[in-house]
Amino acid sequence: MQNQSSEARKPVIFSGIQPSGTLTLGNYIGALRNFKLLEDDYSCVYCVVDLHALTVRQDAAQLRARCLSLAATYMAVGLNPDKSLIYCQSHVSAHAELAWILNCYTYMGELSRMTQFKDKSAKHADNINSGLFTYPVLMAADILLYQTNLVPIGADQKQHLEITRDIGQRFNSIYGDVFTIPEAYIGKVGSRVMSLQEPTRKMSKSDPEETYISLLDKPEDIRRKVRRAVTDSDGDIRFDFDNKPGVSNLLSIIAALTGEPVERIVNELDGKGYGGLKARATDCVIATLEPIQAEYNRIMADKAALQAILDRNALEASRRAARTLDKVKRKVGCAPHGKA
Ligand code: TRP
Repeated sequence: MQNQSSEARKPVIFSGIQPSGTLTLGNYIGALRNFKLLEDDYSCVYCVVDLHALTVRQDAAQLRARCLSLAATYMAVGLNPDKSLIYCQSHVSAHAELAWILNCYTYMGELSRMTQFKDKSAKHADNINSGLFTYPVLMAADILLYQTNLVPIGADQKQHLEITRDIGQRFNSIYGDVFTIPEAYIGKVGSRVMSLQEPTRKMSKSDPEETYISLLDKPEDIRRKVRRAVTDSDGDIRFDFDNKPGVSNLLSIIAALTGEPVERIVNELDGKGYGGLKARATDCVIATLEPIQAEYNRIMADKAALQAILDRNALEASRRAARTLDKVKRKVGCAPHGKA
């Protein structure tokens, strides 16, 4: 269990992850594996944001399964649910409650400027619901509830963090220092993993299956995907992202997973051709994912234990969130209740 007094003094890191399918090797190299290193110095909160997922139509059974699977993946890569809070957003009603209140401090105009809203409404033209519109307010509530100092985010979420800061500052300027104003966490520059088929684009799970490696891919799938990865025709193994993005991507995957400098890998592969490069990349990926998958399978085999961890952490999250929410309710003038 978290030690409350020492937890309280550590800076808070909050990360929300949508349960929208398996995470990729890109998520692992770029973010997940660094999260483990933060556990001792920060109070980390990893929230499976199932309420955010509802902004697009979901299959209920699949979404339920994905929530558990994502939580298990977090633990499988080594995050410790006794040190970090790993829980599901919908288990802590304070998220939705604070989101409502913050909606009343957020302007239509600023939400209309969100590029993700514009993109998503173009993509789901038949379902432009208000949840999609107020999505950033729920995200602001997630972050502000825990007095978060730092939020690890990619470029696509920068605008949402900006609006979170704006809403928090607006609220503070009316009511005093209620919220900590969060900043982006720029971690150790994890290398960016690119698509195996279009190596100038980021590897993404919303692209076709053959372009990414999922953390749960079987060895034969990994072998096939890497074998088919796009390279180039000059046959030369060297790191040159502008002219040789495919080869450079494979080299940086190997470098990231082995910790070896790229130059040494290039030397070792001298004369082995692209076949040798791909074989090396395949071996590294399989060797990395095997223990993660074994751990994932172990966790998923005992759903009751997994559920108990999530329940226990949701309780702790609710306790922490209530401190902020109670204060907010009092400040804005919600009806007092007996216990206060
Ligand atoms: N919007 C984020 C995404 O799609 C997910 C998210 C929800 C989030 N709440 C958050 C990320 C709070 C960071 C902090 O990636």
